[in-house]
Amino acid sequence: MEARTLELVFPEHANPGGNAFGGFVLGLMDKVGSYAAIRRARKRCVTVRVGEVVFEVPIKVGDLLEVVARVVRVGRTSLTVEVEVYRENLREPKVLATKGNLTYVAVDEQGRPAPVDDPTSAAPQP
Ligand SMILES: CC(C)(COP(=O)(O)OP(=O)(O)OC[C@H]1O[C@@H](n2cnc3c(N)ncnc32)[C@H](O)[C@@H]1OP(=O)(O)O)[C@@H](O)C(=O)NCCC(=O)NCCS
Repeated sequence: MEARTLELVFPEHANPGGNAFGGFVLGLMDKVGSYAAIRRARKRCVTVRVGEVVFEVPIKVGDLLEVVARVVRVGRTSLTVEVEVYRENLREPKVLATKGNLTYVAVDEQGRPAPVDDPTSAAPQP
């Protein structure tokens, strides 16, 4: 199960040095990661863990970011999603800028962990 999105880096996303603020990139990773988790679980999902994230190359204002999230592990109520962020601009070819693994937990209406594959609900999409 996969989710992806494109996002342009605007000046309000930058730190005083002109690079994208790390928290902005982490926020994007968390958002798109959750879309992949929700698609797989077909339930509301909350973030329980953000694994190691390394910022390999600088991301600048005006860069286009492609965020790709893939479910790589499904537990009873938790899912791990690998999230990659590619940087693209008019000067250089597309490059992998950042990668990390995030874990989500599927929850019920009360916010309690709920099984990802619930036999009483509709079958998950492939
Ligand atoms: C996520 C949450 C519902 C889990 O509740 P819990 O009572 O700790 O759940 P459990 O101990 O039953 O564990 C449920 C699943 O989460 C996994 N899990 C719990 N803590 C974890 C951690 N620190 N890292 C990775 N997985 C974790 C368990 O392994 C289990 O997975 P499984 O069912 O696939 O085997 C609860 O901790 C919570 O609400 N956290 C806040 C979430 C939030 O607000 N996120 C937004 C970011 S601020």
